[in-house]
Amino acid sequence: SSSEPLKVMISGAPASGKGTQCELIVQKFGLVHISTGDLLRAEVSAGTEIGNRAKEFMNAGQLVPDEIVTAMVIARLSREDAKEKGWLLDGYPRSFPQAQSLEKLKIRPDIYVVLDVPDEILIDRCVGRRLDPETGKIYHLKNFPPETAEIKARLVTRPDDTEENVKSRLEIYKQNAKAISSTHSNIMKKIDGNRPKEKVFADIESLLSQAQKEKVERTAEK
Ligand code: AP5
Repeated sequence: SSSEPLKVMISGAPASGKGTQCELIVQKFGLVHISTGDLLRAEVSAGTEIGNRAKEFMNAGQLVPDEIVTAMVIARLSREDAKEKGWLLDGYPRSFPQAQSLEKLKIRPDIYVVLDVPDEILIDRCVGRRLDPETGKIYHLKNFPPETAEIKARLVTRPDDTEENVKSRLEIYKQNAKAISSTHSNIMKKIDGNRPKEKVFADIESLLSQAQKEKVERTAEK
């Protein structure tokens, strides 16, 4: 009998490595990656109404209003691919009302991964971050420099990655973290994110493999 696909939430401070780990998780587990930051950035660059509303909040390092983000996430979660392959929700919920919105719809993950990284490391990671607009890949000037000069020439900096902004994003994250994790405390797994990305991923991989195995076993018992 086939089991339901895996449902994962990943959380952590700005630049804790969510996007980086999600690339690796998708490669290994084939889940549909739903990043609210990526979805919002796509709306901004397409110049949609949502994008135009979201832009000022994002560039100021503030949260975009709940109703905008929640509508976007729920629409994306209900698409066929997410139901079929399972999902990896990155950057949502980010406030107590957002966590409640999913609870009301009984949208619950099997596992809630939280990446733990000290503050002073986060600032450096944000300031050194560069994105490849063609592939969406995440680089870092020191930690993960681009492979070729051609890629290097097209890398862009996120407008919200200034030191000042990172500090305010971090403050907002800390204010909300407890309220969000209380919703999922029974399935929360904290991971030390201040290690090489392969090491961090090895821990995530074993947690997700275990969660998948338990799901298959539960299905078999039914
Ligand atoms: P979002 O894009 O989600 O930003 P964030 O949470 O601040 O997270 P980041 O994307 O900055 O970091 P990350 O954890 O993915 O780290 P990364 O892997 O890139 O959101 C952006 C904005 O959109 C928000 O501020 C808000 O305005 C809005 N928004 C989004 N969701 C919302 C919501 N639900 N509600 C309301 N508003 C919302 O890594 C960072 C850097 O470190 C990279 O350079 C990387 O190469 C490097 N790095 C990664 N791992 C390692 C490692 N192990 N060792 C060394 N370097 C590493």
